[in-house]
Amino acid sequence: MSGRFQASADSKRVNTNKNLNRERQFKLMSKKEVAGSDPNSDGSSSRGPNLAMYLEVEELEGIGPVMKTKLNTAGIVTVMDLASKSPNEIADAVGSDLQRAAEICEKAREKLVELKYLGENFVSATEIYKRRMAIERISTGSKNLDDLLSGGIESQAVTEFYGEFGSGKTQICHTLCVMVQQPKELGGLHGKVVYIDTENTFRPERIVGIAEARECDPDAILDGIIVAKAYNSAHQELILSELGKQVRDHGVRLVIVDSAVAHYRAEFLGRGTLSERQQRLNKFMHALVRAAEIYNVAVVATNQVQASPDTFFGDPTKATGGHVVAHTSTYRVYIRKTGKNRVARMVDSPYHAEREVLFVLNEKGVDDPPEEVNSSFSKRKQS
Ligand SMILES: Nc1ncnc2c1ncn2[C@@H]1O[C@H](COP(=O)(O)OP(=O)(O)O)[C@@H](O)[C@H]1O
Ligand SMILES: [Mg+2]
Repeated sequence: MSGRFQASADSKRVNTNKNLNRERQFKLMSKKEVAGSDPNSDGSSSRGPNLAMYLEVEELEGIGPVMKTKLNTAGIVTVMDLASKSPNEIADAVGSDLQRAAEICEKAREKLVELKYLGENFVSATEIYKRRMAIERISTGSKNLDDLLSGGIESQAVTEFYGEFGSGKTQICHTLCVMVQQPKELGGLHGKVVYIDTENTFRPERIVGIAEARECDPDAILDGIIVAKAYNSAHQELILSELGKQVRDHGVRLVIVDSAVAHYRAEFLGRGTLSERQQRLNKFMHALVRAAEIYNVAVVATNQVQASPDTFFGDPTKATGGHVVAHTSTYRVYIRKTGKNRVARMVDSPYHAEREVLFVLNEKGVDDPPEEVNSSFSKRKQS
C-alpha cells in the first residue's frame, strides 16, 4: 500500500506481497486468456472483474524497457493507468512531445476496446441505451435522494455535491462509505472506498456510528475505507494519479474527494491567480472524470459555496469552483438547509428533471424525513 494511503481502522498493513503475487499470476496468463477472460465484459458498465486491469504497459506495441521504467516511475503501471491519463501527463512522465504522448494514450484506449473493457468509439444509440441500463449505482442512504439521482450515485461518473458550510456534504460522503460496502440488494456495490480528505474532516467515529445505526459491522466497514489526507493541491493531484494501484489491489468502487476545491481556493488567492487556479482545478476535475470511466468507479466530489451578498437576482449562492467544476461534473446536486431538514436539488443534469427533494441528517447519516414532513414538502412543491 502506498504511503499516501492509509486504512482508517488501524494501521494494519495490507499484504502487499499477496497483491504482487496476484498481479504476477495475471501477468503469467497468456494474452489470449486475458483477452477472452470476461465474457460479460461487452463494454457495458457492469464490467465484471476484468483482467485488462492487470495488463502492464509493456504489453503495448512500441513501449520498450526505457519507456516502461519512466512510466512506472510516474506510477503508471498498467494499460488502464495509461488510458486514464491525459497526453500532457504522459508527455511529462516520459519526456516525449505531446503528439507521441497522445498516440500512446490512444493505443492504450484501443487496447481496452480490443479487450472489450471499453466500448467502441462509434456505437448505436441502442447499444448506448443498453450500457446505460446496466450502470451500477450506490444508494445514498435516503430514498428521496436516490430518487433524485435516478437510483443513486452512478459509477463511471462524477457527482458533485455543493452547498454552504454545514449543509451536509461531508455527512453524505461518510454515509456513502458505509453504503458502498453493502451487498447489491441493500444498495451497495460490495466495494471499497478511497476517501481523499482535504479539509481534515474525515471522522472514523462517525463512520462507526452510521455503521452501527445501519446494523453493519463497524470494524469491517472501517477496514474498507482507504483514507488519503491531501495536504495541498499538488499532493491532492499526486494522490489521484496513484489511484489505479488502490483500485487494483483493494477492489475500490467509490472515490470521494471532500473537498475538491478547498486547496485550490486557499492557494490561489486574488484576481491575478484566478485563471491559474481554474486551469489547475480544470485539470484535476478532468482527471477525476477519466478515472471514473476507466476504473469503473463512482466519484463523489464536494464543493463549498459562499453566500455572495452582491447577487440580487437568481441564486444567492455560487459554487467556489465556478464554471470549471460545473462543466466537468457529470451530475451536480445543490444542498441547502431548511430548518432541521436539508433540500437537495439536481442542477444542469443531461437527463434529470431539475427538481428538489427533502432529506435529513441523523444517527444513520443521510436518511429520509418522517412521512408527514415529506408529504407536506411535496404538496408545497406542487402548489
Ligand atoms: N451525529 C449526527 N447526528 C445528526 N446530525 C449530525 C450528526 N453529525 C453531524 N450532523 C449534522 O451535520 C452538519 C454538518 O454537516 P457537514 O456534512 O459537516 O457539512 P459540510 O457541508 O460543511 O460538509 C451539522 O451541522 C449537523 O447538523
Ligand atoms: Mg465538509
